[in-house]
Amino acid sequence: MDKFRVDLYSDTNTRPSAAMRQACADAEVGNEQAGEDPTVNRLCEMVADLMGKEAGLYAPSGSMCNEIAYRVWCRQGDEIILHRTAHAVHAETGAPAALSGLMLHSLDGPRGQFSAEQVRTAVRQPLTNHRPRSRLVSIEQTSNQGGGTIWPLEQIQDIEKAAKDSKLYMHMDGARLLNAVVETRITATEYAAPFDSAWIDFSKGLGAPVGAVLVGSSEFIAEAWRCKQQFGGAMRQAGIIAAACIFALEHNVDRLTEDHENARYFASLIGDLPGIKLELDRIETNLVFFDVSATGMSGIDIANRLRQRGIRIGVSAPMRMRAVTHLDVARADIELAANELKATLNE
Ligand SMILES: Cc1ncc(COP(=O)(O)O)c(C=O)c1O
Repeated sequence: MDKFRVDLYSDTNTRPSAAMRQACADAEVGNEQAGEDPTVNRLCEMVADLMGKEAGLYAPSGSMCNEIAYRVWCRQGDEIILHRTAHAVHAETGAPAALSGLMLHSLDGPRGQFSAEQVRTAVRQPLTNHRPRSRLVSIEQTSNQGGGTIWPLEQIQDIEKAAKDSKLYMHMDGARLLNAVVETRITATEYAAPFDSAWIDFSKGLGAPVGAVLVGSSEFIAEAWRCKQQFGGAMRQAGIIAAACIFALEHNVDRLTEDHENARYFASLIGDLPGIKLELDRIETNLVFFDVSATGMSGIDIANRLRQRGIRIGVSAPMRMRAVTHLDVARADIELAANELKATLNE
């Protein structure tokens, strides 16, 4: 039995359903490292097709997809232009520096996003002998710490132009790309078109236990394979887990809209609670960030008290909390969590 009555900590906390587990049990498998696992190969083809790219590579995690792409596109001492809230800045334990000797040139901007103009200003030009070389622009779709916000396609296309004018590559961290797709009805192919590399995660809203697929040109994926091997990410009978990802693609994409409705519902229930600050019209997908500074309690205090009531909500900064809706959260859970938050604030 789950420890929490309602777990809004993360969309990574879903449990594979009985049907998904059955798909794993039934999977045809082979040696993935040798390119011989038919289920992994099928998954990679499905994602490459979905995103309009030539080829795909299965990796154990989204973080590894970022790090592989960074390693392929950049050389030691190069820099990556990305938002200051990006996952690679805060949550990959300095991997771009540790694994590939890269610098991160982080930009500010509302909602986890920046503009083409900022990219043009950030690019090191002219490239003299003493300057790091700007090499890659990396964008998170949706932006996690930006609030689950969706980058408008036009803004990305403007950034692509700025990047290409300076011969920079474009990479998309698409951990939650499909949340953007179901919300806007812009296809994954359209969103991925401006990028030289991109990936989607299966262990988030899609509800699979493991894995992400990185896509790009065949040439890029051939190089990516070498880096995956270097990082120790090559696997053996990985069809067992890839089958869950195929199941997720076939069954769990359209329903992401329910998570978005639940997120908005949760925000509407808690938005007027004393001391809680959030902007309802900023809830675009499945992440609800809210400020608790006016409650007289810290985020950690509130989170601890909620835990005692069987509700788990995360803390992203001392006074900022994050609730995430997902496959294992129903509408009634949302009401329960909101009521418990209200009771906590009244304690
Ligand atoms: C935006 C973003 N990028 C990358 C990752 C890393 O994905 P993984 O946990 O599969 O390594 C996450 C995980 O939360 C994320 O939110």
